[in-house]
Parts: sequence; C-alpha cells; structure tokens
Amino acid sequence: MKSLLTAHHLNKSFIIDEQQIVILKDINLSIQSGEFVAIMGKSGSGKSTLLSLLAGLDHASSGQVMLAGDELGQMSEEQLALKRQKEIGFVFQSFHLIPTLNVEENITFPLNIARDHQPDKVDSLIKAVELNHRRHSFPNQLSGGEKQRTAIARALVTDPKILFADEPTGNLDEANAKQVIDLLLTLQKASGTALVVVTHDPALAARADRTLTIKDGQLQ
Ligand SMILES: Nc1ncnc2c1ncn2[C@@H]1O[C@H](COP(=O)(O)OP(=O)(O)OP(=O)(O)O)[C@@H](O)[C@H]1O
Ligand SMILES: [Mg+2]
Repeated sequence: MKSLLTAHHLNKSFIIDEQQIVILKDINLSIQSGEFVAIMGKSGSGKSTLLSLLAGLDHASSGQVMLAGDELGQMSEEQLALKRQKEIGFVFQSFHLIPTLNVEENITFPLNIARDHQPDKVDSLIKAVELNHRRHSFPNQLSGGEKQRTAIARALVTDPKILFADEPTGNLDEANAKQVIDLLLTLQKASGTALVVVTHDPALAARADRTLTIKDGQLQ
C-alpha cells in the first residue's frame, strides 16, 4: 500500500550561540491513510518539533517529508500554506482559537479562507462535538474541553487527509480528556483521516494502531 506520509532521514538542528543543537536525528517513518499513530517520549525529546516538520509548519535541516505526493521541502511558502489549508489539520494543546470569533465562526474560519461555503457541514460538526448550545459563545466563555472540541471541529471541517494533534488533552482534566478523545477518535474513524497524536497518556496510546517512541531525537 502506498503511504500517505513518509519521512526519510529527517534531521533538525538549531544554532544557538554559534553552537549546533541537534534535536532530531535520522527520523524515518511512514503513515498510511486512515491510520492512527501515537507518538510518545519524554519532555524535550523532540515530539513537537517532529510534528511541526511532518505538518509543514517548520522546515527540516535535512531529509525529506513526502505528504500526499508532495515533498514539503520543495514547496514554496505559498504552496505549503495552500496544502496545509486543504490537506492537513492541526490541534494544539493550548487550543489556538481566534478570540474574537464565536464557536461557529471559529469552526467556519478554514472554509472562509478556502472560499468554501458549507453551512451544513459546520452544523453537523458542531453537533458532533456536542457544542450546539455553545455555538454563539466566544472562546473566553468556554471550558477547556469545549475549547478543544471547537478546535477539533475546526481542524476537521476541511476534510483533511491527516490530522496532527500535539498533546490535545494536556490542558484538560481526566473527564474532559476522555470526552475529547472519544469524540476525536469517533470523528477520525467516520472521516477516514489519518491521525498522529503526541501524548503522554498511555490510555490514549493504547487505542492507537501503532505507537512510535522518541528518545533524544531518535525513534526507538
Ligand atoms: N526554536 C527552537 N530553538 C532552539 N531549540 C528549540 C527550539 N524548539 C525546540 N527546541 C528544543 O528542542 C528540544 C525538543 O523540543 P520539543 O518541543 O520538540 O520537545 P517535546 O518532546 O515536544 O517536549 P514536551 O513533551 O515538553 O512538549 C528541546 O530541548 C527544546 O528546547
Ligand atoms: Mg511538545
């Protein structure tokens, strides 16, 4: 089967005070369409850095990321932005909602950028993440779980081929974390999108098709 995403000999380093700090070393991986992969590892091991490279949010120092037929390193910023808009969803630990937009407007936002009009899609996602009663609330009026459910609906509204989530339940208590995960996995299965989740939660990793562990910038 052809992989949706592959990384070949991926390296990332930063230069700080003229010193090269190596963060990721020779990462090789592949992810299939519809697959759910968990990434685990200690704080500082390079998980968020890896996710940023795979999602085209940052550039590798060397190596390749192929996503749905394109090599990300060969694309212009404009092409990458368009690709992220159409094919990639991202959910962050700290939600990253737009504070001046309400729940419905936040979820609709990626469609507006793409000049796509799908009110029924927005409506069904708002209901799927159980926020119909909060659709006109602004982010500062929402609980953490409600914010993250909004962010998940927003990430899925464009039907991405792959959804990346960096510790999506890291700021939630146990009950809210469970609700968010259950909804995330239900929507992932229904939409057929691939899902790559960075998590410290063994219970979430146990539900993945596969778990990758990163240690000191290397996959184990
Ligand atoms: N822009 C940057 N410049 C310099 N060093 C960086 C930069 N971004 C990340 N790092 C370093 O890279 C290492 C890996 O960071 P990363 O955020 O990927 O870790 P992580 O595994 O996601 O950790 P956590 O579980 O705490 O979120 C850390 O030592 C961090 O300080
Ligand atoms: Mg991180």
